[in-house]
This record gives sequence, structure tokens and C-alpha cells, in this order.
Amino acid sequence: MHDSAFPVRSTAEMSLGFNEGTVCDRNGRGDGDAAAGSRRGALFKAKCAGCHGADGTKSIAAMGVKPINTEAVKSKGADALAGTVTNGSGKMPAFKGKLGADEIAAVVQYVLSLK
Ligand code: HEC
Repeated sequence: MHDSAFPVRSTAEMSLGFNEGTVCDRNGRGDGDAAAGSRRGALFKAKCAGCHGADGTKSIAAMGVKPINTEAVKSKGADALAGTVTNGSGKMPAFKGKLGADEIAAVVQYVLSLK
């Protein structure tokens, strides 16, 4: 796994197929393969990177965004982080109704994989 090496693609290409609320995550359940990994990364970039940066390191002091690629965050575990993504926290929006449970699980796995 070389998850720090993001293929350089245009944002336009990244956003194709990742329109608000319509992510095609139904085909290909092979979590753990490279395709699943890059799909998680694409979903994270589409939905989360605006605030968190593609690598989770971004800070936005005015919003209370801090790096999420830290042990302090990752050690909360998948269930707790899925709860935060689902229900929101502080200025972070709730993704309930915007992402399916499987998509939330996928971005959480991506967060847990951040270095
Ligand atoms: C509009 C900006 C915004 C977007 C978009 C956003 N977040 Fe956040 N995120 C925040 C803020 C602000 C916090 C800090 C929340 C707090 O302090 O309670 C946060 C915190 C977090 C945390 C840390 C939670 C913890 O318990 O420490 C994780 C993990 C996280 N976000 C993941 C995500 C994921 C995954 C997505 C995409 C599905 C996402 N965020 C999208 C603003 C955002």
C-alpha cells in the first residue's frame, strides 16, 4: 500500500462521478484491494478534503479544524469516527443522508489509513 502517493489528477476528473449524494459504491465490494483504497481516497477528496486536506493535515483555526491524521484521532476507533461523520461535530457537518453507511465506513477507513 502506498497511500501517501496520490496520483496527480485534475480536480475536474476527480469530481466526475462523485456528485453530491450519488456515489457509486455499490459495485465492487472488494475492500482491501487497491481499487477500494483509491475509491475511498476519491470519496474523501470529494467530501472531506475541502476542510481536512487530501492527507488530513489541514487546519482551519476559525472552524476548529485540526489535523485528523493523528494517533489522538485515529485511536478513537472506527465506530466513534463513523459517529462523528454521521452526526457531525462542532462546525463539521453531519453526513447522515448525504453518504450511505458503507460510504461513511469507507471514508473512516481512509482516515484510519492516513499517515
Ligand atoms: C465544512 C468542513 C468539514 C467537512 C466538509 C468535513 N469536516 Fe471533519 N471536521 C470539521 C471540523 C470543524 C472538525 C472539528 C470538530 C470538533 O471540534 O468537534 C472536524 C473533525 C473531524 C474528525 C475528528 C473527529 C474527532 O473525534 O476528533 C474526523 C475524523 C473528521 N472530521 C472526518 C471527516 C470526514 C471523513 C469528512 C468527509 C466525509 C469530513 N470530516 C468533512 C470540518 C469538516
